[in-house]
Amino acid sequence: MALEMDLGGKVILICGTARGGIGGATARQAAKAGATIVAVDKDQALLDPTLEDVMALGAAVHGIVANVADPRECASIVPQVLARFGRIDGVANVAGGTAEGEWMPLDETPDESFRNSLALNFEYVFRICRDAAREMIRQEAPGSLVNVSSVSSLTSAPWHGPYGAAKSAINALTRTMANEWHEFGIRANAVLPGAVATERVLTRVNSANVVPGSETNFTQPVELANAIVFLLSDLASGISGQSLTVDRSLSTKFCGGARVSRRQMAEA
Ligand SMILES: NC(=O)c1ccc[n+]([C@@H]2O[C@H](COP(=O)([O-])OP(=O)(O)OC[C@H]3O[C@@H](n4cnc5c(N)ncnc54)[C@H](O)[C@@H]3O)[C@@H](O)[C@H]2O)c1
Repeated sequence: MALEMDLGGKVILICGTARGGIGGATARQAAKAGATIVAVDKDQALLDPTLEDVMALGAAVHGIVANVADPRECASIVPQVLARFGRIDGVANVAGGTAEGEWMPLDETPDESFRNSLALNFEYVFRICRDAAREMIRQEAPGSLVNVSSVSSLTSAPWHGPYGAAKSAINALTRTMANEWHEFGIRANAVLPGAVATERVLTRVNSANVVPGSETNFTQPVELANAIVFLLSDLASGISGQSLTVDRSLSTKFCGGARVSRRQMAEA
């Protein structure tokens, strides 16, 4: 008899599910483990390919178009899951990232860029987890919350400081979730990717945002997805309040995103 990661009978909400990213891979792996999937993305065109993939795997799936960084749209997500399936057993908050033009030294970072980074990479994670946990507590049903952070949360995040700070905040808040909600059977963990070969990142491989040499440490989206599905599953019943780095040892070599000195750049 094989030991399986089993999500049979569970309704799993995944925020940020583009086909070529970590969320799309998570939707497919969770579907293979038997879950019913609720996929959230900011527009229908990003959602559709993943909905097709999950349906092709024979799983039940429901798509929600919402901008998670908008508090009002975010507030509608968990109620839509409940309206459709009546329960919520797990959450993977994957949506996040930095826009190309937002990589800049701290002293040049405008307020708006700082605020946008926090809204997309931290604030919505609080709102979704709070709303899901409220329902799990109300239904007296256990659950698992998985929040995608980054190795940029570990030491420093040069030229993407607000992003690194937001991801550090995810790690901290996730530990508090684990502590406060343990008595209700709710687990909460963070997953920290290093450099992942998602479509978004591959388009930037030759840009200044990727540290030369780090390509050998690239993980595949499915490797992150497997870690997330494991934490969502009952196989991880003893694991809560942890930050799990999945980076093929990238973070043992250097902090996430070393930069060339600006003085050297100016002199070159
Ligand atoms: N790819 C990497 O190398 C890497 C490294 C460290 C951390 N991460 C983190 O992993 C997560 C996923 O990254 P990815 O590379 O798979 O990115 P991705 O761009 O492929 O996936 C992110 C998904 O979130 C969606 N999204 C973005 N903003 C949204 C919004 N406002 N509302 C709703 N959906 C929104 C995008 O449309 C996309 O589907 C992010 O949180 C990112 O910070 C990625």
